[in-house]
Amino acid sequence: MLLQGKKLLITGVLTPASIAFHVAKLAQQEGAEVLLTSFGRPMSLTQRTAKKLSPVPEVLELDVTNPAHFPALHDAIKQRWGRLDGVLHAVAFAPEDALGGKFLTAPWESVMQAFRVSTFSLKELAAATAPLFDKGGGIVTLDFDNSTTAWPLYDWMGVCKAGLEATVRYLARDLGSKQIRVNALAAGPIATIAAKGIPGFKHLEDKWGRQAPLGWDARSEASIAAVARTTCVLLSDWMPSTTGELVRVDGGYHAIGAEPVDPAILAAAAPAKDPGAA
Ligand SMILES: NC(=O)c1ccc[n+]([C@@H]2O[C@H](COP(=O)([O-])OP(=O)(O)OC[C@H]3O[C@@H](n4cnc5c(N)ncnc54)[C@H](O)[C@@H]3O)[C@@H](O)[C@H]2O)c1
Repeated sequence: MLLQGKKLLITGVLTPASIAFHVAKLAQQEGAEVLLTSFGRPMSLTQRTAKKLSPVPEVLELDVTNPAHFPALHDAIKQRWGRLDGVLHAVAFAPEDALGGKFLTAPWESVMQAFRVSTFSLKELAAATAPLFDKGGGIVTLDFDNSTTAWPLYDWMGVCKAGLEATVRYLARDLGSKQIRVNALAAGPIATIAAKGIPGFKHLEDKWGRQAPLGWDARSEASIAAVARTTCVLLSDWMPSTTGELVRVDGGYHAIGAEPVDPAILAAAAPAKDPGAA
């Protein structure tokens, strides 16, 4: 099995629709032991969702805006397992006034909160858990690709994701000597609670399905399974020399400039054929 005997810390499980839930489920099927994290009010929801996993994993406390939670998380893992092989960072949040076409009016306090939860938290999580990786391993974060483009409505979350990609590279630089690989997986749109908080998500979802050469459906088992599978590969020993990388799992959307042209439009636009031509 791909992850036989691996000890994995998985953040970001909220509901059974969470990307992290699918990763946790598949990782267990592939032989991994799993610990989850949650915090505050969402904790009871995470605990309910954890019951759908087998065996039911323990849920440790981690609010990424609380600096005291990181050393406590380290100690809790050390006490339970003594060590770690992998971490999934699947945490993001931006206040409403930092999204949805409010780029020019978003206040610093909201941008700061989005950056702290969605970007700086990767550094905090990596720094807290790195001492537990006694045989190297993998840290994976979930991204929505913002390396070269600006998206409609994504606004400051897009800036946070661009920062997340840069954070991945700096962590890869600093943790490589411990054989810890740090990579980002850029997923296409998946219909989760976080996605519903992005105004205009439905528009993006429909467009994605038309443009991705392999196809994409934000509500299908196939798309979320593709994200979970690739995350598990990145956490496994099967990409041993890949770090600081952005791996896209998006049906190939990013490689194509625009939606395909409707053949009916193409036919209507074609010049009439010269009857004398061969
Ligand atoms: N859904 C998509 O279309 C999509 C696409 C690409 C990338 N992603 C990324 O995947 C990751 C997981 O999101 P999801 O779509 O599964 O949604 P989700 O809502 O299920 O997960 C988001 C998680 O962030 C956690 N979180 C928020 N604030 C936190 C805090 N202060 N401390 C600790 N945890 C906190 C929530 O509890 C939740 O578990 C996010 O980074 C998201 O940006 C999602």
